[in-house]
Amino acid sequence: MAVREIIKMGHPLLLEKAQPVNNFNSPALHKLIEDMIETMNDASGAGLAAPQIAEGVQLVIFGVDENERYEEAEPIPFTVLINPIITPLTNETYDDWEGCLSVPGMRGLVPRFKSINYKGFDQFGKPIDRDVDGFHARVVQHECDHLIGILYPFRIKDLRSFGFEDTLFSE
Ligand code: NI
Repeated sequence: MAVREIIKMGHPLLLEKAQPVNNFNSPALHKLIEDMIETMNDASGAGLAAPQIAEGVQLVIFGVDENERYEEAEPIPFTVLINPIITPLTNETYDDWEGCLSVPGMRGLVPRFKSINYKGFDQFGKPIDRDVDGFHARVVQHECDHLIGILYPFRIKDLRSFGFEDTLFSE
């Protein structure tokens, strides 16, 4: 296992479309996921997409424990999600603050669908099919955007709601 470098906004690889995973349960895939877990934990992130460590494949991981830094949010089970497909279950969107390990120190107010279905596979090729809402839905939409070359600042409607975390939320 290894903590990998997280590439930052401005790096061209973050703007590319990721390729589907074709081989499940392979040593290379397991190694990549181990690296991603270690990298996400090292950075105290809620999620990480493979392109953020310069791997252009359709693989994201996410999960939030009850007692971590997102105190107000409901916990999200740790998930490895491969080749995801997101379908909104409503047209309704809501704004909330997001950050990204590839945009360090910043926060922005981002609209996301309130509830979605997501389908995909885990690292063994086992299907995943979930209906989720709220924070869980937001995290999945954020992470899967990385697979189509979209970073959250691209989705901010009013750039006045984008800034440095230590300044935005200072008393
Ligand atoms: Ni991100």
